[in-house]
This record gives sequence, structure tokens and C-alpha cells, in this order.
Amino acid sequence: MSTSLLEVEVHLDEQDLVQTMKQEVAHGLRQRPRQIPPKFFYDERGSQLFERITELPEYYLTRAERALLDRAAPGIAERCGCSELLELGSGSSAKTRVLLNAMKGAGLLEKYVPVDVSETMVRETADQLRSEYPKLAVHAVIGDFTRHLHLLPHGERRLVAFLGSTVGNFERDSAVALLREVASALGPQDRFLLGTDLVKDQAVLEAAYNDSEGVTAEFNRNALRVLNQQLDADFVPERFEHVAFFDRVNSWIEMRLRSTEDQTVTIPGLEMVLDLSEGEEIRTEISCKYTRESVEDLLREAGMKLVEWLPDEREYFALSLAARG
Ligand SMILES: C[S@@+](CC[C@H](N)C(=O)[O-])C[C@H]1O[C@@H](n2cnc3c(N)ncnc32)[C@H](O)[C@@H]1O
Repeated sequence: MSTSLLEVEVHLDEQDLVQTMKQEVAHGLRQRPRQIPPKFFYDERGSQLFERITELPEYYLTRAERALLDRAAPGIAERCGCSELLELGSGSSAKTRVLLNAMKGAGLLEKYVPVDVSETMVRETADQLRSEYPKLAVHAVIGDFTRHLHLLPHGERRLVAFLGSTVGNFERDSAVALLREVASALGPQDRFLLGTDLVKDQAVLEAAYNDSEGVTAEFNRNALRVLNQQLDADFVPERFEHVAFFDRVNSWIEMRLRSTEDQTVTIPGLEMVLDLSEGEEIRTEISCKYTRESVEDLLREAGMKLVEWLPDEREYFALSLAARG
């Protein structure tokens, strides 16, 4: 296999990661309720747990988005005429192959730029894709899309994909700020493809984050293992209970870790001692649920316009194709 078409650019080394983690975790743990930002789920184990989540019967999101892509990708590729796919939070790029195949089928595919904080995942995936698509140039970026968008390689006729409802992990102001940066990186021919989970029956929403096998609970507690590993903290994950519920006012699922007893946790990396009382909760993730109107609003505020709205038949999930404007 030729490696000349493979490039890996690293904007996040271990030291940088720990430095950012220190600032963000210290800030989050001082909030009320206390918070740990969701990107800290994703060490190697966290990425593997997330992959297992995507296969759970209750977690409809990935299947719904995949089915949508299967149906819509050929048309999107034809109409966009893009030769390059840049993907934010690419993970294992599992669903991305549907887009890559559609672009290849349209005779357009030249380059793929996966961007993710999870270095192992990005490197492994980039290698696999190079074998699967021998003519594809892969320019992988290990970076944080909240900090490194301005460093991403320039291109033309790009499709920028942000799938998996990852945008839902951001509160509205932060989502607008992030998408504004994306918008300013888009050229007039570029398109943005956004995957969002939609508001639906509360029981269906809550089941997706409270699976019967407990994989989501393990994924949730993984944030504590990451803090133990990186900041020398002494969290005992088993002393925390997984909690996930739909907050109708904010239209988001909120995941928390609830302390099952009074306990003291020391975090030497932050020179911090946490006294947690029984029942006290730490917020680890929000996952916003949208409507067509709220997606259009979000895009408009970020300086983009909705070009196509593509919901699935049950209106569980939607893809939005947008342009700068
Ligand atoms: C919800 S998963 C989605 C993965 C994949 N796109 C999918 O649809 O299945 C979120 C992905 O975004 C990555 N991620 C989270 N925060 C990030 C950040 N700030 N910068 C870059 N990648 C991030 C995670 O490592 C993970 O692979």
C-alpha cells in the first residue's frame, strides 16, 4: 500500500491535552452543578465504549442516521459536487463510508480529512481507509474542533460533515460559536452536513441513554477513569451512579454521575480536593434534541442557511445540508 497519500497532522500532543484538561476540568468542577466536559469520555476505552453504544438496541441515533445517509448520500454527492470530505469528530468514520462511497460513485472523491481528539482512533481509521480506498488522499488531523478549526487544511468544493448529533453536546451559545467558525471556513461552493437528533417521545429518548446492558453507564463513568489517569485523581467509579433524563425546558438529555455516598476525592493534578455528599451530581454530558425550526435558527445565527432538510420517516433524526449565507 502506498503511504504517500496519507498525512497525519497533530495539533494535540499529550502535554497540550493535559493542560487543556486541567483548565476545563477545574472550571467545570467549580460550577454548580459540577461539570466534566464530554470530550473527556474519549480515551481509547471511551471510544470503544461509544462504538458499543452505537450498536445498542435502545440507541436508535446511529441506525437512524445511517439509514438516512444510505438513502440520501448519492443525491447529496451529486448535488454538492464536492470532491473533499472534511469530518469533525470523525470517530471510527463508520457512517462516513456511506458518504465516501457516494462521492466515489459520482466520480468526485479525492480527499478525506477526519478531525478528532482521539489519536488512536484517527490513526487506525486513516490506515484502514487508505487500504479500502487506494486512490483516496487521507489528511488526518488530531485536534480539538473547538480550538483548531483555523488550523485545518484549506480546500475547495468541500463537504464538511458533523455527524452523530455531536453538536448536541454544546449549549446553544457554544454551538453557535462553533458553527460560526465552521461557516467562516466555508467557501461559496462548500456545503455543511449536520446530523441532529430530534425531539420525540420522552420514553424513547431516555431509554437511549439508559440501556439495559449498562454500557452507557460505563461510558459515563469512564470520564472519572480518564481524570484518574491524566490528573492522578482517586475517583472510585463504582461509587457513582449513572443518571440520564430528558430536560424538557432545555430540550436536552442530561447525563450525570451521582455520588452514592459522602466521599472525598483528591485531584493532585488540579491541587483540588472535592467533598461530595451522598446524592450530589456531576453533569457529564448534555445532548440537545432539535426541531426543524431550532436547527434553522441555529444555522442562521451561525451565518449559514439551510439548503435541504432530510428527516427520517419517523422523524427521529435529521440531516441538514447547509451553505454559507
Ligand atoms: C458522539 S461521537 C460521534 C462519532 C461519529 N462522528 C459518529 O457519528 O458516530 C463524538 C466524536 O467526536 C469526538 N470529539 C468530541 N469532542 C471533540 C472535540 N472537541 N474536538 C474533536 N473531536 C471531538 C469524539 O472523540 C468522538 O469521536
